[in-house]
Parts: sequence; C-alpha cells; structure tokens
Amino acid sequence: MPAHVVIGTQWGDEGKGRVVDLLAMNSDFVARYAGGDNAGHTIRIGEETFKLHLVPSGVLHPGKRCAIGGGVVVNPLALASELQGLAERGLDISPNRVALAETAHIITPAHIALDKANEAQRGDSAIGTTCRGIGPAYTDKAARTGLRAGSMRNPDTFVDQVRRHIEYNNRLLADVYKTSPLDIDTAISGMHAAAEFLAPYLADVPLLLHQALQAGKIVLCEGAQGTLLDIDHGIYPYVTSSSATVGGAITGLGIGPHYIDRVIGVTKAYSTRVGGGPFPTELRDALGDKLRGTGDNPWDEYGTTTGRPRRCGWLDTLVVRYAARINGLTELVVTKLDVLSGFDTLQVANSYTIDGAPVDTLLCDLETHQACRPVYHNLPGWSEDIMHVRSFTNLPSTAQGYIDYLEELTGLPVKTITIGPARDQTIEH
Ligand code: GDP
Ligand code: IMO
Ligand code: MG
Repeated sequence: MPAHVVIGTQWGDEGKGRVVDLLAMNSDFVARYAGGDNAGHTIRIGEETFKLHLVPSGVLHPGKRCAIGGGVVVNPLALASELQGLAERGLDISPNRVALAETAHIITPAHIALDKANEAQRGDSAIGTTCRGIGPAYTDKAARTGLRAGSMRNPDTFVDQVRRHIEYNNRLLADVYKTSPLDIDTAISGMHAAAEFLAPYLADVPLLLHQALQAGKIVLCEGAQGTLLDIDHGIYPYVTSSSATVGGAITGLGIGPHYIDRVIGVTKAYSTRVGGGPFPTELRDALGDKLRGTGDNPWDEYGTTTGRPRRCGWLDTLVVRYAARINGLTELVVTKLDVLSGFDTLQVANSYTIDGAPVDTLLCDLETHQACRPVYHNLPGWSEDIMHVRSFTNLPSTAQGYIDYLEELTGLPVKTITIGPARDQTIEH
C-alpha cells in the first residue's frame, strides 16, 4: 500500500509530467498535491502533445484514477476548460475518474489582478510570477478569508461569495494599488457554469486516497514546481506560494507519511529557471542559448504556461544535493540528457565560494546565496545524438560518466534517464 512522491529537484520544469506519465503505468491513483495552474506539465504521446496545468498527468492512462488535493489552488475556469479540452481529445474525464478536493482553495479574477498589481509594484525586484493569481489565493487561504472548492456544490451561493470577494478586493485594487477595479459581472462571468460543471467532481480526497492505500493500491503523488521554488525551502522571496517539497504531499493530500516508500527526484541534466531570482550557474552567453534551443522543438526551453524563454545554465549539484536532503529523496530520474549532446566540455558545479572562501552546501538566505560563485568540475562531452539509445551501456562513455558523476556527488541511484520527450525515450539504469 505504498505512495510514491515525484518532486522537482531544481526550479521546476524538470520533466515531472513526463516522469509521472511513465510511473503512472505501474500506479493506480495519480494525485496532484500543490500549486495551481502556474504549473505546466508537457507529455508527448506519439504525435500528440498534452500540456497539463491542473489535471494530474495520470489522466493520459486509461483506467487510472486521478485526484487534485486540497493543497492545490484551483481556478475553476481553468480547470473546467482543461477537463473539457481533454474530453474533446477523447479522454475519459468523468467524475468517477477525476476527483477534486472540497478543501482546495479557489483562485478568482481578483487574485489574478492582485498578482499582477503586486508584481508591478515590485518593479525591478519582481518575482516574475506566472500571474495566475497563485500568491494572492494562498494569501487568502492563510488569512482564512479564502473560498474553497466545496462551495461550488451550490453554484448560486458560490457566485454570491465570489461577487462579495471581488467587491472587497476591488477596494484594495483601487485604494492601495491605485489600479482599475474589476468589472464584477465580467469577472464572474462563466463562474456559475464552471461551478456547475465541477460540482460532480468534488470529493473527500484524503478519504479516497486512504481507502485506495488500505486496499493495496499504489498512489503516485505528482509534485508541481521544484524544491528551490518551495515557499519554505526555496530562496525566499523568489519562490512560489506552496510547498513543492515532500511535506506538501502529506498535507496537500492528507495521507500519513508511513505510506511513502519512494521519493523520486526529477533532475534535468542541466539547469533552467523562469522568472526572477538568483541562479548561480546561469549562462548568459551562446552556451546558454544552445541549451535553450531555438524554439523549433517542442521541448526547447520556453515556458509551458507563459511561453517565456527559460534562463539556462549548467547542472548545479549543490541544488540537487539540497533537494535530496530536504525531501529525503530515495532515487533520481535524470531528464533531457540528449540536450547535452554536442558540447565539447560539460561543466558541473560541485561547490561554491563566497569572497574566495569555499562553501559546500546550498545556503537559502537570499543575500548569501546571491554572493555564491560556482566552482566547476569539467567533464568531457559527446557529439553523438543519443535520442535513439535504449540501454545505459550503449550511451557514449562520456555520457555514462556524467551520470556516474551525479550519482557519486548525490549518493543517490539514478534509476531512469530520459533522452527525448516520447514515452519510449527512456533508459532504465
Ligand atoms: P515539468 O513542469 O517538470 O513537467 O516539465 P515541463 O513539461 O514544463 O518541461 C519539460 C519539457 O521537456 C517538455 O517540453 C517535455 O516534453 C520535454 N522533455 C521531457 N523529457 C525530455 C527529454 O528527455 N528530452 C527532451 N529533449 N525533452 C524532454
Ligand atoms: P512546473 O510545475 C517553473 C515560478 C515562476 C516564478 C515563481 C513564482 O511546470 O514545474 P507563481 O506564479 O507561482 O507565483 O510564480 O515560480 N514558477 C515556475 N517555474 N515551473 C513551474 O511549474 C512554475 N510554477 C511557478 O516563474 O518565478
Ligand atoms: Mg513545467
């Protein structure tokens, strides 16, 4: 009766969606535990590409059940349209397959307006949020002024609640942020229909998961974002507003920790980050551009949710080691190793210095972190295209050496390596 947790070990976009899609094959339930539609999980199946924001990636496997936990913040319009889009593509998204926790908090248009207003006010120190209303929705949750998904059971009273919430926030937008208030009718248009559509999906998700675990089913907990974006363990304030780390799976789904027997860290073979904040191994040169790609391939480094170019840089093993410690990772999956083909030399940060003094662990305080300079270990690259390789021993020896080095530095086994976005582009190790 185990639960497995999938976690991003860097700044998000590590390829969690495609890894969950892989692991879902041997799971019964896939449950999303944190974040909102700031997430963008891309999965390639044959010629088709799916971009999921709220619906767990298990939905692409017929017969698997899915749940959106109470730790998630849900924009009803976004969720209804995502589910309807999947139905149009022939997927079964019926309420007996997909459950939405009654305790999940609702994102409203006022949260989105506040997110944008907050960002504008921060000026040069903007977080670079996805402007999906994530921060303000979690603010209301913590302030105990939020709306919960369970309210959608009665769409009439739900819309009244949303109306009052927008009236209140309109005063904030006008008086504090000096920005235009929302037109209430426009803002809530569609909310009634979305609530009617979503009401049948509402469920007691912790109870469903408990029953599944007790019945010996495997629950796969799908993380969003990454360890360095975690509200507590990331580099504050350049973080998101939820618990992207393993604790978020427990509170966000309402399951006991004793069920968890695997904590799977997804590590991109290099580093990327979207939005503001420090990034010690960032490459602001032609090498960074090479890692990003030109946008011609669907996997090139442009945001799934916002389309923004991702900042790119070398792999930072202090970040991955930190994620291993904070999450108690049991294993790694390394994604996008194919992107490293064609570099003469690969650099991997294995320590930092601050004013010349060595530092061998990631420090979360913003100023200290900003002062860190990476110390690189150089590894030889490879020129071959490896997207067709299916066994570890058939990888170029230098690619094998790259994985061996990561295992050595993190002390974790790399169980799977992905060398392309398609389902079969994986190597078991
Ligand atoms: P997530 O947010 O962690 O699920 O990751 P995203 O989906 O935002 O970003 C990962 C991107 O890389 C997607 O476009 C995937 O299709 C793509 N991808 C995943 N694994 C691989 C891989 O092994 N090789 C390549 N080239 N692309 C991959
Ligand atoms: P997935 O699940 C990458 C980043 C934003 C911004 C910061 C705060 O696809 O890995 P927010 O809108 O959450 O208030 O923005 O977090 N961010 C992500 N970056 N992948 C994500 O999700 C992200 N979700 C949020 O770019 O820097
Ligand atoms: Mg993503």
